[in-house]
Amino acid sequence: MTDHEITLTVDGTTEELTVESRTLLVHALRDELGYTGPNVGCETSKCGACTVRLDGDAVKSCTVLAVQADGSEVTTAGGLADGTDLHPIQTAFHEEHGLQCGYCTPGMVMTASELLENDPDPDREAIRTGLKGNVCRCTGYQNIVDAIETAADDLAESGTTTQQTCGGDQS
Ligand code: FES
Ligand code: FES
Repeated sequence: MTDHEITLTVDGTTEELTVESRTLLVHALRDELGYTGPNVGCETSKCGACTVRLDGDAVKSCTVLAVQADGSEVTTAGGLADGTDLHPIQTAFHEEHGLQCGYCTPGMVMTASELLENDPDPDREAIRTGLKGNVCRCTGYQNIVDAIETAADDLAESGTTTQQTCGGDQS
């Protein structure tokens, strides 16, 4: 098995690690580096629980090899918060009860962050279309759509970016 030395910038922190050729990005993030935002659901690109932003794009991190991400900037759901202050998208999921077990939530939040970046004022159909790749077993989606509508309003009012990270130097 061939090992590779790679560097990732995760939630503003530069991380150097050694991975095998076969290591998936989600496993590098969770198992090697301890970033528990991306969850492992299906490992077959169906559920979206593992979604992160990779150089700005929302991607399912079970579909990317860690070596492919070498040199990239990764934002996980944990990196959206500003210290203990939740990002408006995270707050909206909390206030609108957009989660039950929470397993899908980090992926939903990261998909929403890209969705709202590309379309800051989506209607409910656009939100549902944007969430097509993310599966929730618990909520029926209604409150998730409510949360993203609320987040869009809050982001517009606050001027917060959808990729704001906390404390991390993103320059
Ligand atoms: S774990 Fe990646 S899409 Fe399900
Ligand atoms: S809140 Fe349980 S899977 Fe979505």
